[in-house]
Amino acid sequence: MKYNQEHYVIKGGNPLKGEVGIGGAKNAALAILAASIMTDETVTLENLPDVRDINVLLEAMQGIGVIVERLDRHTVKINGSLVRNVSIEYESIKRIRASYYLIGALLGKYKEAEVPLPGGCNIGSRPIDQHLKGFRAIGADVSIEGGAIVAKAERLIGTHIYMDVVTVGATINVMMASCMAEGKTTIENAAKEPHVVDVANFLNSLGANIKGAGTDVIRIKGVPKLHGGIYSIIPDQIEAGTFMFAAAITQGDILIKNVIPKHLESISAKLMEIGCSIEEFDDAVRVSRTGELRSTHIKTLPYPGFPTDMQPQAGVTLALSGGISTITESIFENRFRYVDEITRMGASIKVEGNTAIITGVPRLSGAHLSSPDLRAGAALVLASLSAEGISVVDEISLIERGYEDFDMKLRNLGANIEKTSGDRQLKKMKLKLAAV
Ligand code: EPZ
Repeated sequence: MKYNQEHYVIKGGNPLKGEVGIGGAKNAALAILAASIMTDETVTLENLPDVRDINVLLEAMQGIGVIVERLDRHTVKINGSLVRNVSIEYESIKRIRASYYLIGALLGKYKEAEVPLPGGCNIGSRPIDQHLKGFRAIGADVSIEGGAIVAKAERLIGTHIYMDVVTVGATINVMMASCMAEGKTTIENAAKEPHVVDVANFLNSLGANIKGAGTDVIRIKGVPKLHGGIYSIIPDQIEAGTFMFAAAITQGDILIKNVIPKHLESISAKLMEIGCSIEEFDDAVRVSRTGELRSTHIKTLPYPGFPTDMQPQAGVTLALSGGISTITESIFENRFRYVDEITRMGASIKVEGNTAIITGVPRLSGAHLSSPDLRAGAALVLASLSAEGISVVDEISLIERGYEDFDMKLRNLGANIEKTSGDRQLKKMKLKLAAV
């Protein structure tokens, strides 16, 4: 099995206890960064997560002439007035899908954009037909030329768009493309995720006129131009949910701070079902588990349903629940790639179509694991934190795409986890952790 150079080495068994602060939402920040070039004035963004996907998008933006000034680790100033061309280099885009938000932003501002097609993703095929449908509906000619999406419009004119599927990306992209179009645009069957609302609130803070975000009908009244401003990104519900499940799987007690509890309701509900206690505060939730984990049934759904980005974290936790649990993944077709890995730790999970049937086992044992994708990688870390003995998790660059200081935050909660690179350091760290 190919292992990349960087690893987490984990000795499981410690209940995680203490407090952890949650960073800004990666999936809101990616769209808001792209939208920030729609004005020629300066935009200051606060509470930006310092994770790989964000930093790669910032590089892609600088590549087309956007001025990026980093004030501190979580604050940047953006000025898009000098964007000299609207064609993004392939190299930068193939590293993250979310560069496709630059199409909506550039089309909405310059009436043209050329962005390489995003690479496929390892959680399933990631079509963008609804994005293109929305761009065409407001008057853009959209074609695929040489692996890039080329969108051009004489005029952008508001219209009524019905999304065939509930899609976060297309909802946000069409919202951006139409916020300076002529007239009104209505998006029906819109995604309602908190980060869709955050992008709408951000655009409105620059002078856009968007109503209904967070419901399935979003109404956009085109405005002539947008001005600058200062905006703080909402907390990351998925980072928060990951630490909530970390408390559940390690029989711990964690106060998760800087969150919006409302955004976590479906996660809290499932954790209570499997035997955790949840205490909600204004901007924090406390999750603890003392007794045995119980089984339950989960189906991932668009917000406010149980998030697909939390599915692997729930799956590895239910692997230790008494009885039979099921998880149905209704959003993506290849999001059970962690199952093969956790089976090597002793889990008993059978995947049939888009449903995983999980027979709880009393314990997991440490193994050498490889992260299949961002959230599955984080889930394998959770499983390793509860397993007996030493685990090694590879491909951690995938995990660090969406989690800032993941190992440090876990260590601060009492986890025996270290980051190493290279086989020699790996061997040394395994011996060191085995001795603690
Ligand atoms: C966003 O992806 C997130 N990524 C994903 O998080 C998240 O899993 C997903 O939303 C669902 O919540 C970012 O925001 C960068 P979709 P996105 O468009 O926008 C289908 C993570 O771990 N679809 O809501 O690409 C699609 O195939 C990542 O942080 C079409 O059919 O997801 C899927 O079945 C992973 N046509 C469903 O809609 C389209 O044009 C939902 O996809 C677009 C999507």
